[in-house]
Amino acid sequence: MLDSAELGDGQLHGTDAEDAPVLLVRHDGGLFAIHNRCSHRGCLLSEGELEGAVITCPCHGSQFDVRNGTLVRGPATTGQPVLDVRETNGHIEVRTTSRG
Ligand code: FES
Repeated sequence: MLDSAELGDGQLHGTDAEDAPVLLVRHDGGLFAIHNRCSHRGCLLSEGELEGAVITCPCHGSQFDVRNGTLVRGPATTGQPVLDVRETNGHIEVRTTSRG
């Protein structure tokens, strides 16, 4: 769905997988995917700011750890679902089944 080369370290990318909005992030050598719609009011996290492993929502400033979807700071009260992501043959693929 996305060429590996298009996502460098410290970069983020918003996309869709099976109609679900997905935020892809490469951080510190790892590749992570969480739901792209903020659990607060649904803004796109891919339009926010990434600092280290923490994404800040552009709307009201909620923060999430992209490695595991954990809520770092509100006003959101829940974290973001984590999605399965893998890299094969130079391509990044996401599955929408949550790892819980
Ligand atoms: S929609 Fe993300 S913090 Fe409100």
